[in-house]
Amino acid sequence: MRIYADNAATTRMSEEAIETMVKVARETFGNPSSLYEIGQAAKDVLENARETVAECFNCSPREIYFTSGGSEADNQAIISAARIGEKAGKKHIVSTTIEHHAVLHTLKKLEKEGFKITLVGVNSKGTVNPEDIKAAITDETALVSVMFVNNEIGTIEPIAEIGEICREKGVLFHTDAVQAAGQIKIDVKSQNIDMMSVSAHKFHGPKGVGALYVRRGIPLTNIIEGGAQERGKRGGTENVPGIAAMAVALKTECEKIPAKTEKLVNARDKIISGLKKIPYSSLNGELEKRSPGNINFCFEGIEGESLLLLLDDKGICASSGSACTSGSLDPSHVLLAIGRPHEVAHGSLRLSIGEDITENEIDYIIKSVEQVVSYLRGMSPFWHDLETGKRKHIFKEIEE
Ligand SMILES: Cc1ncc(COP(=O)(O)O)c(C=O)c1O
Repeated sequence: MRIYADNAATTRMSEEAIETMVKVARETFGNPSSLYEIGQAAKDVLENARETVAECFNCSPREIYFTSGGSEADNQAIISAARIGEKAGKKHIVSTTIEHHAVLHTLKKLEKEGFKITLVGVNSKGTVNPEDIKAAITDETALVSVMFVNNEIGTIEPIAEIGEICREKGVLFHTDAVQAAGQIKIDVKSQNIDMMSVSAHKFHGPKGVGALYVRRGIPLTNIIEGGAQERGKRGGTENVPGIAAMAVALKTECEKIPAKTEKLVNARDKIISGLKKIPYSSLNGELEKRSPGNINFCFEGIEGESLLLLLDDKGICASSGSACTSGSLDPSHVLLAIGRPHEVAHGSLRLSIGEDITENEIDYIIKSVEQVVSYLRGMSPFWHDLETGKRKHIFKEIEE
């Protein structure tokens, strides 16, 4: 059996996205900036894709800019807001402790330029309190950036409320919606979003393609110099086949949201109930306001990497945090932010399931994790110390 349960890292491209990509590459190969017919046909594909993406988020096509993915969109949104702020003498940015590194590292760079960065903390479930954002905003604040859904623990943040506060205070609001697009209904108007980043490979589109929504009237800063593509805001010949495939994938996933959410939530909650029965385990993140396919647990006495390798032997593809941090020995900044001590933050498991998961696969995942956790604990000196009372347990034997 082979079960792919790492959809938060990336998703398998849908057949229609693959077909669209190949068809466009084969038939509409022109450069959209070329004036002759073949070029203009590619431009039509590009502009149709822009319309489709805009429809999915309830904005105008003129408010969509294509990028190379979520990281570039995050970088461009934050740098643009920083430059707007700078001109008005505002050099303060508010964000949170659980953002993706595409946001956190961009903020670090701006800090070195003299910006003041306030990272608001989250509660033990990973939820940002809008009142804390409100309290962090000052007269100097140029931008608030809060992610829509956390990529590790799946917590859905109160985006509309935070957006409303930003509107009232006259501060720009950006959200990294890379883990939300195609999973959760997004309406940039009713959710008060000024800028938003998305990435195609998280919703069954291709890798290396993304989009940035920017509310009309907000001037973007060009972070890739070059030609006049994307209305002069992003140099470089557009990835027409990838963009067309992204639009098709996004439309399908957005239309499927009502039907697939119920399926995913049922499967997710079955796995959560099963894994909760493993002694001294604890669910990370919210149960209710949680991404429909996300499961994230800490197990006492377990080292995350060994858990992943043994699950791989059993045919289960999972992750111990974000794909970008695997390979690093540092515990996840998100787990530390929700108050998990270092020793358990190393022993986390993230499963991000797809809607096609079967009952058999659900049972197999639960059984396999139980077996692997018990096997690893049997060999762990750390677990031995817990068993013999030399160390104290952190979690309850069984969490409610
Ligand atoms: C929340 C979040 N933001 C940004 C990114 C980066 O997106 P991309 O891989 O398209 O650069 C990711 C990818 O894991 C993510 O999960």
